[in-house]
Amino acid sequence: MTILEQIQAKAKEKPQAIVFPEGEDDRTIQAAAICLANKLVSPVLLGDKEKISSQAAALGVNISGAEIITPEKDARFEAYANTFYEMRKHKGLDPETARKNMAQPLYFGAMMVREKRVAASVAGAAHTTGDVLRAAIQVIGVAPGFSVVSSCFLMVLPDGRNLTFGDCAVIPDPTADQLADIALASAETHRSLTGEEPLVAMLSFSTKGSASHPFVDKVQQAVAIARQKKPEIRIDGEMQADAALVSSVGQRKAPGSPVAGQANVLIFPDLQAGNIGYKLVERLAGAQAIGPIIQGLAQPANDLSRGCKAEDIVNVACICSLKARN
Ligand code: ACO
Repeated sequence: MTILEQIQAKAKEKPQAIVFPEGEDDRTIQAAAICLANKLVSPVLLGDKEKISSQAAALGVNISGAEIITPEKDARFEAYANTFYEMRKHKGLDPETARKNMAQPLYFGAMMVREKRVAASVAGAAHTTGDVLRAAIQVIGVAPGFSVVSSCFLMVLPDGRNLTFGDCAVIPDPTADQLADIALASAETHRSLTGEEPLVAMLSFSTKGSASHPFVDKVQQAVAIARQKKPEIRIDGEMQADAALVSSVGQRKAPGSPVAGQANVLIFPDLQAGNIGYKLVERLAGAQAIGPIIQGLAQPANDLSRGCKAEDIVNVACICSLKARN
């Protein structure tokens, strides 16, 4: 079984309710139909009921088992708008703007997650990453013990290995504290999706002090912070990518390291390195890049690529379902 088949099989064991704020998007409707037919998750679509039903009929798919909600007509709409106003009034939000925000499906969906009416939200087929993240950060918020929301990619290599790369999509220039949080969140994501123990390498152009530079200092600080926050996680650095991945190099450059040569979670020092790194491995090594998987939120919500297909939406919904259960 591929990792995605394993993730789908695990999601199916205990189907979670997932809200799809872009319920009027054709690919989302097709994804909901696939989820229902295969009993993967229970889809909730946001949008106009008649419009969604006629689109489903035109697409020739059956979504009769899906709940469809029009935010402004929902019995909880005023309560959600009021909760949002209370949450953000110290930022200058007024009640009318709070209502307008809550009428937007991204915000309403996030509030459904916050209120535990559904387990997670999946959107981004028709919105930018920034729009999806902003709604999730404002409404769902950061998980206890974390300072930031970040992302990772699950990289499935042609030889069957699963590596997790973070952060490749959200935080351009993390501080040492934020880098530590990216590492711990990526470790958690790796464990929940693969079932493997995370072995986290904090990457740099230096291994164990072989070079000195403020960039290297930052990675070393991040290792110390992450270890202090979660001593039970096996994490080490700073180290170069070859020391992290190749046993003989790891033994030579970082002898005694708990992860060198066998790392399965690679943490890049900033977004330029992370984004370039995952695309190189995807394009040159032929890896399948699954993500970005959003992490560090109090409850799961995930972004999609605007070029996604219905099958991609199904996969992200199953990933969110597993994250919600963990
Ligand atoms: N985690 C937690 N909170 C955050 C984060 C974060 N990563 N980023 C911003 N915030 C909070 C701020 O603290 C602030 O909170 P407040 O309103 O309560 O004071 C609020 O969000 C707004 O902060 P800004 O700095 O104004 O952030 P902005 O809204 O401009 O953007 C966002 C935040 C949406 C996360 C932005 O960093 C972003 O768009 N990231 C995505 C980058 C991107 O486009 N990547 C594309 C690559 S994807 C790919 O290649 C697959």
